[in-house]
Amino acid sequence: MKKLIAGNWKMNLDIGEAVKLIDQLTAELNDYDFEKADILVCPNFTCLYPVHELLKDSQILLGAQNMYHETEGAYTGETSGSMLKAVGCSYVILGHSERRKYFGETDEFINLKISKAQSYDLIPILCVGESLEERESDRHFEVVKSQLLKSLSGLDKDEVLKTTVAYEPVWAIGTGKNATSSEAQEMHKFIRDEVISGIVGDGSKSIRILYGGSLNENVSEELLSQPDIDGGLIGGASLKFGSFTKIIRSIK
Ligand code: 13P
Repeated sequence: MKKLIAGNWKMNLDIGEAVKLIDQLTAELNDYDFEKADILVCPNFTCLYPVHELLKDSQILLGAQNMYHETEGAYTGETSGSMLKAVGCSYVILGHSERRKYFGETDEFINLKISKAQSYDLIPILCVGESLEERESDRHFEVVKSQLLKSLSGLDKDEVLKTTVAYEPVWAIGTGKNATSSEAQEMHKFIRDEVISGIVGDGSKSIRILYGGSLNENVSEELLSQPDIDGGLIGGASLKFGSFTKIIRSIK
C-alpha cells in the first residue's frame, strides 16, 4: 500500500514560521516521486489558508487537527467540516490523545466527528493508543480495540474503509521513546486482522494504519518497513525541515 507521511504540527508555528517551513518543503520535494508516498501537513487553523495558497502547485496534502461535528451555528471557537473543505483540507486528525486528555474527548464524541467528516469527504485520521499504565497491566489490546469499535460505531463499511487509523501509544508521544518495530507491528496487525477485519472483512487490507509517537529520522526506516505500518503521524520531527524530509526519503 502507498504510505502516508503526515506531519501534525500541533500548537506550533505561526504564519511566518509555517510559510518558511512550507517554502523549504516544497523546494526540497520538487523532484519527489509522490508515487512512493502521500505527504500531508496539518498546521494549526490560523495557518491553513496561507499554507493552502502555497501548496496550490504542489502534491503535498493539507489537513486539520480537529473539527466539530455540527454543520454550523452558535458553537464559539469551533470549526466545521465544510470550512475545512473550503480551505483545501482533505484530511482531519480526530481523537488525538491530547484532545482526549486535555479537552475530555470521549470515543462517543469522536464517533460523531468521524461520521460528520465522512459526510464532507474529509478523510479522518482516527487516533487510538494506550497509556503506559494500560500497557504495563497488559490491557493495551483491549483498550485499543474498545477505542476503535466505539469510534467507528454506526459507520457503514464504505465509511470505515475511507478512514485512516493512527496507532499512537500515549507513552511514546513527545517522550523520545518510540514503540519498537515489533511492538508497533504487533499492534498494527491486531488492529487490521482482529478489529477492522471484524467490521469490513478482507477490506481491512486496504486500510491505512499509521504509527505515531517519537517517530524520527533515526527510526523511521525500521518502523515504516513493517508489513502493517502504512506510514507515520509525526509531531516534533515534522516541525524540523531536515528531519521531516529525511523521514520521507527513508521510504524506499
Ligand atoms: P511526537 O512525534 O512529537 O511524539 O508526536 C506524535 C504525535 O502525537 C503525532 O500526532
